[in-house]
Amino acid sequence: MSLVVRRHSSLASTQDVTRRLVQAGEAKPGCVVVADEQTEGRGRFGRTWLSPVGGLYATYVVDPHSLISLRAGMAATRALAAYGVQADLKWPNDVLIADRKLAGILIETVADAALVGIGLNVTGAPLETAICLREVGCGARRGELMVAIGEELGSVRPDGEILDAYRERLSTLGRTVRVSMEDGTVIEGTAVDIDEAGRLLLETPYGCRPIASGECMHLVV
Ligand code: BTN
Repeated sequence: MSLVVRRHSSLASTQDVTRRLVQAGEAKPGCVVVADEQTEGRGRFGRTWLSPVGGLYATYVVDPHSLISLRAGMAATRALAAYGVQADLKWPNDVLIADRKLAGILIETVADAALVGIGLNVTGAPLETAICLREVGCGARRGELMVAIGEELGSVRPDGEILDAYRERLSTLGRTVRVSMEDGTVIEGTAVDIDEAGRLLLETPYGCRPIASGECMHLVV
């Protein structure tokens, strides 16, 4: 799939610009909006995504495939692997190296499309809990990473293949975790598997609980 790239030096958020383009019929699957910096970058659960110059900030328009959240995480880790970077995933799709965050992914929907927003720390990490590619000796340029991730997102594999590959990359499995859900519920347990819908299966004192969405924290025990 060939990518249509719309590049900006500075934007509020690539998610919002891409949404408006899709709504206006000016962007469709295969389009990516990328910015050198964002002044109002957004993360999951309404958090701010610090977006100084030096990171990759891109929103891809894709068809709303099943397991899109897992597919997006796999696309990022596969693209990084092509540049010699072995990154893990934290459920659902945080990209980690040594338990520090390398990239975050925000998925939203608009009309008949999914917006896959990726923020990747390339030359600097804006938080102490984060890591960047430069720190692990990877000198890949933002532009080539943006294209590699887009190509991975465009190569659609069957659900079973995605789930198998995803489980292998998922450092959450076997860990004790705390998941905070949007309604304020917090649940702790051992992450035992991912079901066919991409839900995290947590073994808890009250039985096995499938978690569809939430913020997952790996607990050190
Ligand atoms: C997260 O881990 O909370 C997800 C972070 C997603 C950040 C990216 S950067 C490109 C796109 N534009 C945004 O405003 N957010 C996403």
